[in-house]
Amino acid sequence: MLVLLQRIISDETAHEVVTASDPLRALELFSQHPFDLVVTDLKMPKMDGLKLLEQIKQASPEVSVIILTAYATIETAVEAIQKGAYDYITKPFRRERIILTINKAMKWQEMVRENLALRQALAAKDSFASLIGSTPVMRDIFARIRQVAPTMGTVLITGPSGTGKELVARAIHQHSLRCSRKLITVNCTAIPEPVLESELFGHVKGAFTGAWQDKKGLVEEAHEGSLFLDEIGDLNPVMQTKLLRLLQEGEYKPVGSVVTKKADLRFIAATHHDLKADIAAARFREDLYYRLNVIRFDLPPLKERKQDIPILSYHFLKKYCRINQKDVEHISPEALQVLQSLEFPGNVRELENIIERGVIFCSGDTLTVRDLAVDPQEKTFYPDFDEDITRLTFKEAKDKMIQIFHRLYIQSLLDKSAGNISQAAEVAGIQRQYLHRLMKETGIDAGDFKPREE
Ligand SMILES: Nc1ncnc2c1ncn2[C@@H]1O[C@H](COP(=O)(O)OP(=O)(O)OP(=O)(O)O)[C@@H](O)[C@H]1O
Ligand SMILES: [Mg+2]
Repeated sequence: MLVLLQRIISDETAHEVVTASDPLRALELFSQHPFDLVVTDLKMPKMDGLKLLEQIKQASPEVSVIILTAYATIETAVEAIQKGAYDYITKPFRRERIILTINKAMKWQEMVRENLALRQALAAKDSFASLIGSTPVMRDIFARIRQVAPTMGTVLITGPSGTGKELVARAIHQHSLRCSRKLITVNCTAIPEPVLESELFGHVKGAFTGAWQDKKGLVEEAHEGSLFLDEIGDLNPVMQTKLLRLLQEGEYKPVGSVVTKKADLRFIAATHHDLKADIAAARFREDLYYRLNVIRFDLPPLKERKQDIPILSYHFLKKYCRINQKDVEHISPEALQVLQSLEFPGNVRELENIIERGVIFCSGDTLTVRDLAVDPQEKTFYPDFDEDITRLTFKEAKDKMIQIFHRLYIQSLLDKSAGNISQAAEVAGIQRQYLHRLMKETGIDAGDFKPREE
């Protein structure tokens, strides 16, 4: 039956079929590779089909499961559907019936995905509202986002860490004609270089050890949508060249493939680097720079738009009151004054962190200087572990813990290396520029760890 089904499905559809002769093997395969659809029997050795269905749905709710059954009692079928099966087919089945059901399931999945993208786009629409600012530079940025978003022009967003580059990228996508399609983000720093190429362009089966089947890249996933290349200044020269080709010709090759593929993409790139300086130092391709630099947004550091600090502070106050279910309504004038006196090496992100922490500590209806817990001398703040992180969403809690981890880790690292960044990066096994970026984000200054001269 397994062999027969495999042949029917491979013959009549474009899908790749992998078989497993028992449920445990199926779950094992499942944990290793993504699948779109599962066809399973009900009566099997080791585990029955309903149990398998449950486990699959738990791990990957988006997978369609079709149940085959010779015991077509209405009860089991209903139970299977209740547990999330897409449909059931009674044995003996007809060839056309199985193909029809598979095709319908795949179509349905596509609709679910598009719906999700649409809903995300709609939800994110407010996130233009969440890009806050009333200073002339920020107003100018909002106006230009509206103006250029509907075009195909490649966008380059520059500015120091934490100034809102990612928010601007998202706002552009949301205001574009592709807003119901995906915005796919590639973080060029976080992905190790050899992995990046296959992440971006995908690979074919056998391209390297472990490439046991073809894999789509992010470029393909972003097809007809937007591709956001974050931290593009960190891209290595080989990838710069490949990216240039993608930008210029809209063409790329999956790793290990001889076939050139095409992609229809809107490109948005961001970096905190000074790309001109990188070009001068031969670290960044000039031709790539000119390709990217069609529409330019240069986000100013927060200390150059201090008049935005009150409005941003209130925005974050509302946000974190909602998240933490608190009722802090005001920020005391003294607290606002302290905030406006800070340097904010970590820019808006740092302000956001201070307010978040303040909201958590605040016991009244007004955020006071004490709640801010900033040391005007140090001009940075320190996180703590005392809060109840289950009050945050998973993503918020994760981001927060990562931030805390970055801070603690980097502080100990620099402490050990006496403020020597190159040495610290080597010990940590990360690139120097990445460490630099993390330091900037967390507002850590290597100078603080250098031995004092007596
Ligand atoms: N104008 C703004 N209005 C509201 N929130 C902002 C604004 N600018 C930044 N933020 C918030 O500050 C944080 C950092 O913003 P974002 O991630 O866009 O910065 P970035 O420029 O991409 O920084 P990095 O270079 O470190 O990646 C986010 O939580 C974002 O929501
Ligand atoms: Mg960013």
